[in-house]
Amino acid sequence: MSLSNKSNILSNDDLKRINSWINKLKEMKPLDKKQRVKKAKSKLKLNYKKIGAGCNRIVYDINHRYVLKVAITKRGIKNNEIEFNIYKHCPDQLREHLCPVKEIGYGWIIMDKMSKKVPKSSYYNRKRTEMFNEFKNNGIEAKDLQWSNLALSKSGKITVFDYGNFNMPSKNIIYKKKRKK
Ligand SMILES: Nc1ncnc2c1ncn2[C@@H]1O[C@H](COP(=O)(O)OP(=O)(O)O)[C@@H](O)[C@H]1O
Ligand SMILES: [Mg+2]
Repeated sequence: MSLSNKSNILSNDDLKRINSWINKLKEMKPLDKKQRVKKAKSKLKLNYKKIGAGCNRIVYDINHRYVLKVAITKRGIKNNEIEFNIYKHCPDQLREHLCPVKEIGYGWIIMDKMSKKVPKSSYYNRKRTEMFNEFKNNGIEAKDLQWSNLALSKSGKITVFDYGNFNMPSKNIIYKKKRKK
C-alpha cells in the first residue's frame, strides 16, 4: 500500500481518466455539490456504478467488494491522504474501527465496501461514544461520526468509512519538529 499511480484493481485506462480529472480540478471554478458531482461523473466516464457522493468525493462500486473514492474538490484530495495516513499510522486496536484501505493514488483511494448499516439504537450510540473516546485517548480527534459515515464490519464492530476529517496532531508535531532542525 503506497502512494504511487499503479493499481492492481483499476485499469491503466481508469488511472488515466482519474489523473486527467484531478489535474482539471485545480483550475475548476467553484461549483455547488450537485454540479460538481455531475461534472465529475461525466468527465471521468468510469465503467463502475456510482454508489454515493459526499461534499468532496464521488464514490463508485467495484465488483461489490471495494469502493473507489475520487476527489471532486481539493479538500477531497486531502481527505484521501488523511484516510491513508490514519489507517497506516493509528494504533492496531483502533484500526478495527476503520474501513480498510486497499490502495491509494493521487486523488483516489480504494477501500472495502461496507454494506451493513449501524442501527440507531442506544446500544450503538454508546458504542459510538466509546469509539470516539478510544480515538481521543490515542491522540486522534474523530470528527464527523454521524450515522451516515458509519457501518458494521463483518464481525459486527462499529466502523467508520469516512474518516477524511479525522485529525492526528501527533503526526503534524513530528513533521514540524523535523522541519525545524
Ligand atoms: N466504504 C464504503 N462502503 C460503502 N459505501 C461507502 C463507503 N465509503 C463511502 N461510501 C458511500 O459514499 C458516500 C460518500 O463517501 P464519503 O467517504 O462520505 O465522502 P465525503 O468525504 O465526500 O463525504 C457515503 O455517504 C456512502 O454512501
Ligand atoms: Mg461523508
